[in-house]
Amino acid sequence: MNRFFITTPIYYVNAKPHLGHAYTTIVVDALARFHALLGEEVFFLTGSDEHGDKIAEAAKKAGQTPKEYADAISGLFSSLWPKLGITPKRFIRTTDPDHKEAVKRALQLVYDKGDIYFGEYGGHYCKGCERFLTEKELVDGLCPDHKVKPEYIAEKNYFFRMSKYQGALLEHIKANPDFIRPRQYRNEVVSLLESGALEDLCISRPKSRLTWGIELPFDDNFVTYVWFDALMNYLTAIGWPDDPDFSKWWDVAEHVVAKDILKPHAVFWPTMLLAMGLPLYKRLNVHGYWLVRDTKMSKSLGNVVEPLAMAEHAGLSGMRYFLLREMVFGSDASFSDEALIGRFNADLANDLGNLANRSLAMTHKYFGGTVPEADAPQAADTELARLGREAMANFVQLFGAAQFSRALEALWELVRGLNKYIDAMAPWTLFKEGDTKRLGTVMAMVLGGLRQVAVCLLPVMPEAAEKLLTQLGQETSGINLAKEAETFAPLPAGTAVAATSNLFPRMEAPARDETAPRPKAAKDKAKAAKAAKAPAAKPEPEAEVAFEDFAKLDLRVATVLTAAPVPGADRLYAVTVDVGEAEPRPVVAGLAEYFPAEDLVGRQVVLVANLKPRKLRGTVSHGMILAVKHADGMALLTPSAPVAPGDRVS
Ligand code: MSP
Repeated sequence: MNRFFITTPIYYVNAKPHLGHAYTTIVVDALARFHALLGEEVFFLTGSDEHGDKIAEAAKKAGQTPKEYADAISGLFSSLWPKLGITPKRFIRTTDPDHKEAVKRALQLVYDKGDIYFGEYGGHYCKGCERFLTEKELVDGLCPDHKVKPEYIAEKNYFFRMSKYQGALLEHIKANPDFIRPRQYRNEVVSLLESGALEDLCISRPKSRLTWGIELPFDDNFVTYVWFDALMNYLTAIGWPDDPDFSKWWDVAEHVVAKDILKPHAVFWPTMLLAMGLPLYKRLNVHGYWLVRDTKMSKSLGNVVEPLAMAEHAGLSGMRYFLLREMVFGSDASFSDEALIGRFNADLANDLGNLANRSLAMTHKYFGGTVPEADAPQAADTELARLGREAMANFVQLFGAAQFSRALEALWELVRGLNKYIDAMAPWTLFKEGDTKRLGTVMAMVLGGLRQVAVCLLPVMPEAAEKLLTQLGQETSGINLAKEAETFAPLPAGTAVAATSNLFPRMEAPARDETAPRPKAAKDKAKAAKAAKAPAAKPEPEAEVAFEDFAKLDLRVATVLTAAPVPGADRLYAVTVDVGEAEPRPVVAGLAEYFPAEDLVGRQVVLVANLKPRKLRGTVSHGMILAVKHADGMALLTPSAPVAPGDRVS
């Protein structure tokens, strides 16, 4: 059985977890689930980094001992992960006794080898990075990451002879092109190693200055802290040095980090391993930063997004999808509510949500909720199957290569392909024509495709993918992704499916920023708003109608399927809606001034369904969408919870 060992950085406990930490941990969780779905045995490791100056200082400020402080913040991290659907196998703390013991063993090993020496050094120490920065790394005298002037420190300390391993490391990176990925980070490390002599690494602090570390086994006046301590967690967590099983995981070890800690992981860590006589890890995966308005999200800059607030806003599945889809792994990405809502509504509410909603509703309407028998495939079916196999194979290959955004893009070829297939096959027409055989094939193909999409999404959004599989009458365990990706099959006849899906109700846009430039339609709204402010005469009550008269109105919930401008009519859209009928209903709606067409698609609205058909600018409208004109524009009437298209409003 293949194995996969994957790690996150262990996070400092000087601040609460934010979206940056959540991103890396979600990436690792998704990779762990992906490999498990391929049938591999998986070890997912995360944890907290608790020693060093920063934590000692933060504890002092909080009026606590470092251990009390570390216990509290470490607890925030370990209790957050399950709430985000993250399931590590071990959460290691650098204050764990087995870790501290193993760090001492490593120090002794390297010391005995002659690769740790005592010396004096003066340099620019950045507390944020917990390391000395070279002159070359400073930008205008400041640390480029923390934007502070490093402190000049000169003192006697222990040093690790990192320079001795420079050549061997360079050779290893060149011989293993995939050792650091994506490529830009590999190149950065190669040019660093080629550009001059590597400095040795300071690994101790005199106890007179810092006691919050692990005592050196060969000098009890000093402690080791942060890097020599922290990086070792990757080995100590799997039982090094005494557990002979540790190499079962170490041989397949992969790390995931952001570019802020590239140098410690790509240079300090492999040279430490070389000094210990251990094989190097298999691969380092490096990603960029989440930015907020062009600035790195970080606690010290005060622009962090709270992971739980985001999960509440977009749902756990929406959050995980957005993070993996929006950031091109390796590059920076910008976080904003607009980006989150836009991506969610386009990909999840419209493309996938709509596909699931209409597929289940049609199966119920045409076949009472039981998947029909598929007949001999026609050209369009063979083409859909080809698209499906190709999309899944691309998804598996790209996801395995840590290209999450491209992998999801590849999978959405299938999601969109399925929607197009439905539109082209027009099941409502087949139903009207009584072509049950063909209708059965089309429905079984669509449901089979939807199942494949759900299977691929299991590592990305386990919660929603499992719900979708259950709605499709499928098992959620015992699935092998490698096997699934080889075939594209209609859903087996006789499977009972749920009546509705409603996994991704549209997210509402955030309150408008009044300082932002207004789009054209908003100008008219401003005029209306002005008028609305003028004191208005109280409207006369309308003449009363009897209930029987009101009951004559057939009000139904409808889901908008398409919307397009009516040529020559600025205010009108030609819309098709699903009102739970055999085929979509064409309606003309005066909404073009207020909503972009793509914003309407996927929405649930209220339709006056028994209005006499009316010709508007050459297009016949079979009903009227209800909306409220108000001072700020137009608001649609919509059910407060998603309901089945065609449900009656009473
Ligand atoms: N304790 C060290 C790591 C030791 S690993 C042996 C450390 N801790 S940290 O708390 O500062 O975490 C840094 C990591 O958090 C980054 O490498 C990244 O995984 C994540 N991120 C923190 N802020 C981030 C962004 N704004 N964007 C993306 N990831 C971010 O360094």
